[in-house]
Amino acid sequence: MAPRHFLDLHLLDAATLRGILDTAHAMKKAGKRVPAKLRPKGIEDKVLVLIFEKPSTRTRVSFDVAMRQLGGQTIMLNNTDLQLGRGESIADTARVLSRYIDIIMIRANTHQTLQELAAHATVPIVNGLTDWSHPCQVMADLMTFEEHIGPLAGKTVAWVGDGNNVAVSWMHAAVRFGFELRIACPSELEPEKGVVDWVRREKGNVSITDDPAKAVKGAHCVVTDTWVSMGQTGADHRKKILKPYTVDAALMAKAAKSAIFMHCLPAYRDHEVSAEVLDGPQSVILDEAENRLHVQKAILAWCLSTDG
Ligand code: CP
Ligand code: NVA
Repeated sequence: MAPRHFLDLHLLDAATLRGILDTAHAMKKAGKRVPAKLRPKGIEDKVLVLIFEKPSTRTRVSFDVAMRQLGGQTIMLNNTDLQLGRGESIADTARVLSRYIDIIMIRANTHQTLQELAAHATVPIVNGLTDWSHPCQVMADLMTFEEHIGPLAGKTVAWVGDGNNVAVSWMHAAVRFGFELRIACPSELEPEKGVVDWVRREKGNVSITDDPAKAVKGAHCVVTDTWVSMGQTGADHRKKILKPYTVDAALMAKAAKSAIFMHCLPAYRDHEVSAEVLDGPQSVILDEAENRLHVQKAILAWCLSTDG
């Protein structure tokens, strides 16, 4: 049987993603001691390898704790710990690790690395962020939205800032969960055409503008992220063209009265978001961070389950 990879939201159907989110809510309710019915069979004999080619606080700790709370084991590896860092091929790494362990999570510099790993591994691969997408983060954000606002279908989310990896996963999510996504970003930082075309083919409700006020008007949720993602160059230019996209109290005031503010963190106060908004009453950043744990337990359980 082909392994169940969790690579990107557009590669999974809406029912599967809904099922994972439902499990995530149940995991949160259950707390640290995951009941047997939510644990994959034989989890106590399973090992998750976590590979990090880039730094991480949340992904690193929440995946490690998630696997332990499910009853499994973990091994944490940085890029330089592996022969991968000395030029061993991704394919060989995938084949060899598949002989030892049961599931791999990778935070990769390039999306191609993730895809190659998945193509050659015989165990599930989970995307813990690449330069192209960050699906685990957006699953946690969707869960957070449901907790604070309610069902996603028909709601409006405004993404303000760089059209980056997190924005791409939000675009996938908008299509799969049936909500409107309005992206406000400078034209040169728009998400790549391939994703925009995919949304169009899927008849998704995603619009792109360079006007933050237009995107935010009446939105149920306003989201932003760092202006300079890991591995990106041209920091000074980015900061200059993104300056009008700071999410501050004046911009938040244009959203719905009950709107929430999201940021995947790490955040840079008074750059992409004012300290007032980030630390203010509409901000749900710590719930997003916490929900990484619950949603990733659900993702690991889904990847490791073979019962359909
Ligand atoms: N949001 C997120 O993925 O954080 P880390 O980079 O700390 O893992
Ligand atoms: N867009 C950011 C997200 C960090 C979690 C980055 O890739 O650095």
